[in-house]
Amino acid sequence: GKGNYRHFMEKELHEHPAVIGDTLRQYVDPATRAVSRPALPFDPATLPRLWLSGCGSAFIVCQTARYWFETIARLPCDADVASELRYRDPPMTGGGAAMFVSQSGETADNLAAMKLLRTGGQSIVSVVNVPESTMSRESDATLMTVAGPEISVASTKAFTAQLSVMACLALNFARARGAIDAEEEARLTTALLEVPEHAARLLDASAEIEALAEDIKGARDVLYLGRGSMFPIALEGALKLKELSYIHAEGYAAGEMKHGPIALIDDSVPVISLCPSGPLFEKTASNLQEAAARGGRIIAFTDEDGAQALRRFASRVVVLPKVDPFVAPILHAIPVQMLAYHVAVLKGTDVDQPRNLAKAVTVE
Ligand code: M6R
Repeated sequence: GKGNYRHFMEKELHEHPAVIGDTLRQYVDPATRAVSRPALPFDPATLPRLWLSGCGSAFIVCQTARYWFETIARLPCDADVASELRYRDPPMTGGGAAMFVSQSGETADNLAAMKLLRTGGQSIVSVVNVPESTMSRESDATLMTVAGPEISVASTKAFTAQLSVMACLALNFARARGAIDAEEEARLTTALLEVPEHAARLLDASAEIEALAEDIKGARDVLYLGRGSMFPIALEGALKLKELSYIHAEGYAAGEMKHGPIALIDDSVPVISLCPSGPLFEKTASNLQEAAARGGRIIAFTDEDGAQALRRFASRVVVLPKVDPFVAPILHAIPVQMLAYHVAVLKGTDVDQPRNLAKAVTVE
């Protein structure tokens, strides 16, 4: 049941800290801070290329993971939406590997993409939350997310569990490929291990997100912006808002604003940006300033180091704990999901069962 919570989604949001912690414990040795992993049907040290495939929020996990595999593990990587991958017929050289991310493990398009990549000579790994699922059965290896049953149609804790698995794999592959040393691995796993505690604090401070939800609930359109590994989290924010509150929302790479979407900006369009401090901060902040100069209502999620610069032109600045940029996408996913939840509650939509949607999409 949902205990004292109003909705399964609210309960599942509150499970983020425990689920992230449980997932990390499967991979990270707390004493050495090294990442171990179950046996895989390929050697990450010599892997020529990695394919990542998923639908909806699972695809967003793939997009985030691609930044990690490329930048940290120096591994050539593609992230594809399964419904496109299955028909795209990309040229493949045998000997690569493909990972299929899915909460249910039953998503029809992802299963079809799996068949295609197997035929193309790739090793097949699934990252699923349901152990006896079809995707798990049809894979050479399965990596489990230990999120527990997720009832709400909107994915929450499965999403951060999937991100946690992918982050661990990126570090493990990075070591295997000689892209990082043990010291860097320990520094980054330490950052990961601190995420559950930060996540718990965010969940306790929901009043600010609820106030923000009041601001957003009357909007017709909302834009979400991010750069680098925060770009997929902008997509996640937009997807959750659409799915739960039926408000039109789009996620964009912040640098794409001036190539079209900035034409939408006026004072009725909230621009929600995921802008933690780090190497891409200045670039994102200057994109936001351009939107503000055109009357855009800027709402920024950042940390203490980013807050001061953003307060000069943003109408709201939500200050999150300061973390290493590596783990920032995991942490920022939580307030954007909370925001979509609270907007939906204010609008009175069916939070756990949004219209037209199913928990597992088993037909094409
Ligand atoms: O079971 P799966 O992870 O394969 O499901 C994929 C998508 O259908 C799912 O993530 C969907 O986008 C969610 N409703 C998003 O909250």
